[in-house]
Amino acid sequence: MRWQSIKGTKILTASDPEQSREAIRCAAAMLQAGGVVAFPTETVYGLGADAGNAAAVEKIFAAKGRPADNPLIVHIGGVEQLDQLVREIPPRAFLLAGHFWPGPLTMVLPKSERLPGIVTAGLQSVAVRVPAHPLALALLREASLPVAAPSANLSGSPSPTTAAHVMADLAGRIDAILDGGACSIGVESTVLSLLRSQPAILRPGGVTLEMLQAVLGEEIVDLSDANGEYEGTPPAPGMKYRHYAPAVPLYLVEGGGERGELLASLLADLRRQGRRPGLLLSAETAQQFSSYENIPLEVLGSAKDPALMASRLYAALRRLDNGAVDIILAEGFAEAEMGRALMNRLRKAASRVFTSSPAPCVLFVCSGNTCRSVMAEAFFRRQWELDRLPGEAQVCSAGLMTVDGLSPSREALTILREEGLSMEHHRSRPLDRELVEKAHYIFTMTDLHKKQLLERFPRCAHRVWTL
Ligand code: TXA
Ligand code: MG
Repeated sequence: MRWQSIKGTKILTASDPEQSREAIRCAAAMLQAGGVVAFPTETVYGLGADAGNAAAVEKIFAAKGRPADNPLIVHIGGVEQLDQLVREIPPRAFLLAGHFWPGPLTMVLPKSERLPGIVTAGLQSVAVRVPAHPLALALLREASLPVAAPSANLSGSPSPTTAAHVMADLAGRIDAILDGGACSIGVESTVLSLLRSQPAILRPGGVTLEMLQAVLGEEIVDLSDANGEYEGTPPAPGMKYRHYAPAVPLYLVEGGGERGELLASLLADLRRQGRRPGLLLSAETAQQFSSYENIPLEVLGSAKDPALMASRLYAALRRLDNGAVDIILAEGFAEAEMGRALMNRLRKAASRVFTSSPAPCVLFVCSGNTCRSVMAEAFFRRQWELDRLPGEAQVCSAGLMTVDGLSPSREALTILREEGLSMEHHRSRPLDRELVEKAHYIFTMTDLHKKQLLERFPRCAHRVWTL
């Protein structure tokens, strides 16, 4: 069969069963001959070479521009091939393999002496997985080799989820690509270390913490955001690099507050500065921006479906990175289930992270709520506006020993008026449980006020300060 090539990289298309068999035979022969071939997996495209051939593996590092201290994942066709690579297989590994292989789980295990050191960047452990994509499995079985394969992108750029992404990065740098269409999961496998007594997630991915916990029935540590060592387990060396990143800067807006408002104010600032921002949002937040024109927008899907959003992330980043924008504003999401992998990749891609928190509720307390606490409330409100802080601060004041409805004192109103502030409409209010419970910050005017407050509401001690 004659295959098309671009810049010398053969494109092995697998659109019908016969062509597919031929493509797999050709790719397998290239791997056996020490070549480098990109192939689809259910997570992302991998760039494969014979893991037993150091010279072939060297070509992977060269093609990607990958730092030599970042080890590769070895792909095998079935659990029975594990003992070629691993010195000692803990019982947990069999249990997990039974549940999650073939699939997006990579296990880090003690390395066998036979495997060349270049594959594991000199570590005494090896990362192994059995991919679930039918073309990947067919290729591994046909080549009958363990295949070392990182994601098939230039080092540092978003992982490829289509053959076109691979070609955009690596055409002319690799021997061939086996084209199997788009990857279904769209983010990389979960890397789980089984080197120590407690299993540790080094990179969240296609198999979630919740799924692992359900099968193992034990606590699993999540080291994916840790920088240091944990009981001698080095975190996945790859995670220390800024990763998965588009060429333009990405600002990530996370947090439980009004993300939409913070995004809108950042967007307005950037446009004022003459920047060309693009947006990466959930369907829900995108609705708030539907009236904005001329702003490139990528919608990942409903925030209720983190797996769908994760599967679209890399393609969306690549589309935004096509020259039309010079900065990306991305929304952050809840970290549960596939949301962990999604947020991990967004944070690695981000050059800055902003956190929207719900606007704080601030309470000023004095005795009568006719003078000092009223003035404090007015000054705070003005400062909040001057600082242009997001959201509307909820500010109020109350008295420990007062009654409802007294006007502020004449002196207080005069001083406020001199400052350009007006509290004429304020009426005194006695302190009650509801006010105290709602407040994030409580400021009393004197230590005696604080003492009296804590006698009535001892549980709010950590939220009370004296001005
Ligand atoms: O889904 C995937 O895992 C894809 C497909 C192609 O299988 N592969 C992939 O490979 O994402 P790569 O090289 O882009 O990421 C491998 C990650 C890196 O963060 C690396 O540092 C870590 O796994 N890793 C590999 N061997 C390790 C080891 N022995 N100990 C700790 N971390 C390891
Ligand atoms: Mg990668």
